[in-house]
Amino acid sequence: MSGVLCVQASARGTERSLTRGLAALFLDRLTALRPDLTVATRDLAQAPVPQIGGSWIAAAFTPPAERSPALEAELALSDELIGEIEAADLIVIAAPIYNYGPPAALKAWIDQTARLGRTFSFDLARGDYPLAPILSGKRLVVLSACGEFGFAAGGPRAAINGFDPVIDACRLYWGVAAEDHHLIRIEYQEFGDERFRVSRDAAEARVHAVAGQLAATLPRALGPEGVAA
Ligand SMILES: Cc1cc2nc3c(=O)[nH]c(=O)nc-3n(C[C@H](O)[C@H](O)[C@H](O)COP(=O)(O)O)c2cc1C
Repeated sequence: MSGVLCVQASARGTERSLTRGLAALFLDRLTALRPDLTVATRDLAQAPVPQIGGSWIAAAFTPPAERSPALEAELALSDELIGEIEAADLIVIAAPIYNYGPPAALKAWIDQTARLGRTFSFDLARGDYPLAPILSGKRLVVLSACGEFGFAAGGPRAAINGFDPVIDACRLYWGVAAEDHHLIRIEYQEFGDERFRVSRDAAEARVHAVAGQLAATLPRALGPEGVAA
């Protein structure tokens, strides 16, 4: 089976959250077109993952063969979260902008899943860019929302966009190339005016388009004869 991992980060519930609404729309559309896809959800608002601390860092940077049971235990949740990424062909991140960056709940997940030897390797023989991703071939859809507007490149708030650059840098940890990263965002939420409605309608139209595109291109599980089901 081909896997989808949906990572939710809005502190608001389904009835009010724009990003949860976009995720529901996207997953409904995608699974209607591709009922073979399995969807796993990691809700970082309902069940926050802890921030990494000193003992987590000590464990992550100790070679696996040298880790004590206590250090292994430090990484148990990180292992589980990375396992969810490994099992996915498509990662959907539904997350608002909070204070010009990703919600802290999402940043904690990013820190938990950026792991030496699991999602990236480090080699000074590579010169000034010693980090290299380990995972590859995954797709990423980011479904976002903001109260203000103009955070895209060239927009009036591009310089204070602390959300998109983080995702763009860290998508490599999840095995996502630039061309496989789709960003859809509803803007103007705080204004609630016609611009908000236009932005929301455009985002929903893009959700349909990207779901259709991914439904046609996501890998299909091989049946018993080795033929795509
Ligand atoms: C704590 C908090 C911080 C926010 N910070 C920003 C911000 O820096 N810039 C912005 O444009 N909107 C900001 N907003 C507005 C949200 O991005 C907007 O309400 C969005 O729709 C929230 O996503 P949701 O509807 O999925 O919960 C903030 C909202 C909250 C609750």
